[in-house]
Amino acid sequence: MSVDNKAKNNLAKDIWQKDKDHFTHPWQMFDSFEQEGSLVMEQAEGCYLVDIKGNRYLDSVGGLWCTNIGQGREEMAEAIADQVRKLAYASPFVDITTAPAAQLASKLADIAPGDLNHVMFSCGGSTAIDSAYRLIQYYQNCRGLHEKKHVIARDSSYHGSTYISMSIGNKKGDHPAEFDYKRDNIHHVSSPNYYHAPEFETQDDFLDFLIQELEHKITDIGADKVAAFFAEPILGAGGVIVPPKGYHQRTHAVCKKHDVLYVSDEVVTAFGRLGHWFASESVFGFTPDIITCAKGLSSGYLPLGATIYSDVIHHVISEQGKDRCFTNGYTYSGHPVCCAAALKNIEIMERENLFDNAKVVGEYFGEQLKTLLDLPIVGEVRGYRLMQCVEFVADKNTREDFPLPIDIGKVISDIADSKGLMVRPIGNLNVMSPPLIITKQEIDFVVTTLRASIIDAMDSLGYNK
Ligand SMILES: Cc1ncc(COP(=O)(O)O)c(C=O)c1O
Repeated sequence: MSVDNKAKNNLAKDIWQKDKDHFTHPWQMFDSFEQEGSLVMEQAEGCYLVDIKGNRYLDSVGGLWCTNIGQGREEMAEAIADQVRKLAYASPFVDITTAPAAQLASKLADIAPGDLNHVMFSCGGSTAIDSAYRLIQYYQNCRGLHEKKHVIARDSSYHGSTYISMSIGNKKGDHPAEFDYKRDNIHHVSSPNYYHAPEFETQDDFLDFLIQELEHKITDIGADKVAAFFAEPILGAGGVIVPPKGYHQRTHAVCKKHDVLYVSDEVVTAFGRLGHWFASESVFGFTPDIITCAKGLSSGYLPLGATIYSDVIHHVISEQGKDRCFTNGYTYSGHPVCCAAALKNIEIMERENLFDNAKVVGEYFGEQLKTLLDLPIVGEVRGYRLMQCVEFVADKNTREDFPLPIDIGKVISDIADSKGLMVRPIGNLNVMSPPLIITKQEIDFVVTTLRASIIDAMDSLGYNK
């Protein structure tokens, strides 16, 4: 081994060891992590990641639903460096601002639907949800509706991992007994996952059930006590669940009827993943009261989230003569460097018409992934445009899951890794959300490599159904 290679190997080992000894990762599985540690990533370009050993991967996960414009863009580096040179930080509290924060807030008001013209910045999606929750309490108290504090969300939803955002979400496996959750005012209704609702003959029957269930939940709690409904347009981490057609419009109508705010959690679905700035209005045809977003807002170059809310809410909370103070926000709310990165990110999305690519290649992605349905363990392929997943089942007829210990999603994703493709394993699923710049040729690579990985996994498990 050359001296250079030896030094590189030692460095790789050193980093791996330091990580294992000191970095407690999000969703760390303590048992397997103790044995295996982390895969150390070192470089990225466009849709590709390179690990510290030099292995290259097509990252069909887009980081974590976030590298929308693709990695390694020189002009992003310049925009970030320029802002650092000019002004790395100024307090956003009370009445101080910076040009990037003001310009980004104005841009978000411009592209957001309806009268959503006010922006609270945060450090990511979880804190955007936290701020939405606090805003809702503040708003209801300002209206004198002190009892109206309950919120409703769905099974299979994911809204983040602060105390409140994790309590609002209800994704399988995310509420282990070792953690505590807020329960007294948070309620859940069914996931709109038709594939796992075989008792309903048609999607329309299922939709009717879901709408009635929500309305009953509101009336059971008491409409005077229900403040808000939290919903992702397409449930992401809970399994890329696209609700039946008309679901959002009808749940929105139920919310309006009972004076319940609709919070559309667009942390994943905004900024082009579905071909539009925001999916709620452009894809699903309704205007929420509050939108939370993050991820694609800065394409993962720097951490940033936003809670965008309506004139109606703002009018109530900011009523003059009440001497109110809105004690919510963070040291890094509207951080000028993060906002400068987001502005450049948005400029790139517009200049390169990336949403057109997301539409055309996204449709192609869905069609090509569906060709995997001929494989005996592929139960369903679902999603919309650049948000897709493949669900594996032990038995296609009964839709029976693989036993948990097999961890089929991970078995397949590990094989895919070894073939140069990253997909995200979540239970029995492989989830994909590539950068908006992905090409049809790269989609072909994703689909053929995934097919080969599934076949290898079936062989290694001795699958013979
Ligand atoms: C829909 C949704 N909301 C909120 C979050 C939390 O965002 P963050 O991890 O940036 O805090 C996520 C993260 O994946 C998400 O998918």
